[in-house]
Amino acid sequence: MDFYEAVQKRLSVRAYKPDPIPEDVLNRVLEAGRVAPSAKNYQPWKFIVVRDPAVRQALVPACRNQASVGQAPVTICACAISDQAWKGMGGYWSAEAVDVTIALEHMILAATTEGLGTCWIGAFVEEEVRRVLAIPQGVKPIALTPLGYPATEAKPRPRKSLAEIVCFDRYA
Ligand SMILES: Cc1cc2nc3c(=O)[nH]c(=O)nc-3n(C[C@H](O)[C@H](O)[C@H](O)COP(=O)(O)O)c2cc1C
Repeated sequence: MDFYEAVQKRLSVRAYKPDPIPEDVLNRVLEAGRVAPSAKNYQPWKFIVVRDPAVRQALVPACRNQASVGQAPVTICACAISDQAWKGMGGYWSAEAVDVTIALEHMILAATTEGLGTCWIGAFVEEEVRRVLAIPQGVKPIALTPLGYPATEAKPRPRKSLAEIVCFDRYA
């Protein structure tokens, strides 16, 4: 699958088969995140690969009862290590969430290429995720995704047209 096919095929998958992910496939997905760009190349991230079924199950209430994080054979929690992030983005902003988001999206597109489903999970209770995964202070969970073989075919959702979202030379 080439890149353009992968970006079109990636859809949020919310139902998963229990089939395990082969180790080499999982490693290629993680590697795609490892090589992602980050501000000043600081790589202020940690990816918790949750395979233990009991821990995944404990993530379900922490993710506002989204069953997919317990159903997929793997759930990844992408975290930012705040004090390792560049703080000067735009002159005033920490790049931590941007860096982690880019890396997780690399993994998500790699997963699509491998025939795996994912779903960006932003609806979670930070303190609960922190407790379940023993995430220390100073490290922030930014997003999670289940990772596994889709049990159902996800339907594409509409997008704004290019004409609506792109302008040239000046904001318009
Ligand atoms: C920041 C962010 C948070 C999201 N949180 C959730 C979530 O908690 N649960 C969920 O099912 N989908 C979540 N999504 C997925 C979006 O609903 C989905 O990407 C959007 O509806 C477009 O559908 P598609 O991914 O299938 O193209 C989130 C996406 C983003 C970017």
